[in-house]
Amino acid sequence: MLRAGIIGCNGVSGLYDQNFFERKDKFSITHASGYFLSESCNLVSVCDPDEDRLTKFRDFWKLQNVYSCHREMLLNEKLDIVSICVPTENHYEVFCDAINFGVKGIFCEKPLSLSQQEANRMQELAKKNNVKVSVNYFRRWNTSINKLKSSIHEGEFGNFIKGIFKYTKTTSGNACHLMDLANWFFDEPTKISLDANSIDIDRLDFEFLYADSSEIKFINIPNDDSYIFIDCELFFESMHVSISQRGQFISISPIGSDKIYDNFKIIDNQEPFEADWKNAPLRAINNLDQCIKSDLPCESPIHDSIILIKQLDKLKKLYMEQVK
Ligand SMILES: NC(=O)c1ccc[n+]([C@@H]2O[C@H](COP(=O)([O-])OP(=O)(O)OC[C@H]3O[C@@H](n4cnc5c(N)ncnc54)[C@H](O)[C@@H]3O)[C@@H](O)[C@H]2O)c1
Repeated sequence: MLRAGIIGCNGVSGLYDQNFFERKDKFSITHASGYFLSESCNLVSVCDPDEDRLTKFRDFWKLQNVYSCHREMLLNEKLDIVSICVPTENHYEVFCDAINFGVKGIFCEKPLSLSQQEANRMQELAKKNNVKVSVNYFRRWNTSINKLKSSIHEGEFGNFIKGIFKYTKTTSGNACHLMDLANWFFDEPTKISLDANSIDIDRLDFEFLYADSSEIKFINIPNDDSYIFIDCELFFESMHVSISQRGQFISISPIGSDKIYDNFKIIDNQEPFEADWKNAPLRAINNLDQCIKSDLPCESPIHDSIILIKQLDKLKKLYMEQVK
């Protein structure tokens, strides 16, 4: 069994899983439940300088060895894998420490960093020490979304025309999930443009433009920050695809002909079905474990995260030019 530890005891690392032990059909939505259900990794320790969170986390996940300092944990616990769940601005320091203390794999929260320089150094350090890294863009381990990707690549829906991706909260917080999805589905855009109506550097409206004239529009929905909305609509020649509730529901509707208005092409709306989203962290951990054993790159590698960080930087640059 690999020895795993979590650095930062927040929602995504384990506290979102408030009903885990009551659920009969156990599934993982956090790092902790991913390790709990894993057959190859054992969560042996967590750390957080916030005493209340650490105690809550320790009691909920029934852990014995907890620390207030990540270096102390790394020194004492001889971990094989760590999850990095600290605020994004602290990823770099913790990431470098984890590698210097000899871990073999890192499951890092997204975005990897907000600095290209840091991300490049993280990539170099991981490569030099042969450490496998996976960044938690969790839609990549949603098998229904993965199947959509294959259908798109195999041309089953016809040519891609346009995407409309909507998000609440911030560009680096929520839109980056959608940007990663766009890069994963369609590769890098040839151009990125900023909408003139963007008035907040952290909540931008922008477009990804592709060589074949298709495009994806990213629209921020300004709202109460507890309203979490990260949804996509994709228009293809012969299909309309909608991914809602952060990847939990999908609808795939053919473009049909209107039975009443004879010559019109319409979206023949199909009921959404529940996507296979529930065990994304467990699958990510299994993938990391496999990659450590077989020396393969992970499903959400650093390289892809660096592309995304460059895109975030480009958007900030465009915004600064616009407000000058
Ligand atoms: N994948 C997702 O959908 C998703 C969802 C939520 C958050 N996140 C990401 O998770 C990360 C954390 O985000 P958050 O807003 O939930 O953070 P948070 O501020 O709620 O929690 C971070 C925790 O890390 C602890 N911490 C800080 N430095 C530490 C250190 N050196 N060692 C140990 N613990 C330390 C803090 O005390 C705090 O308890 C961010 O990168 C964020 O983008 C991802």
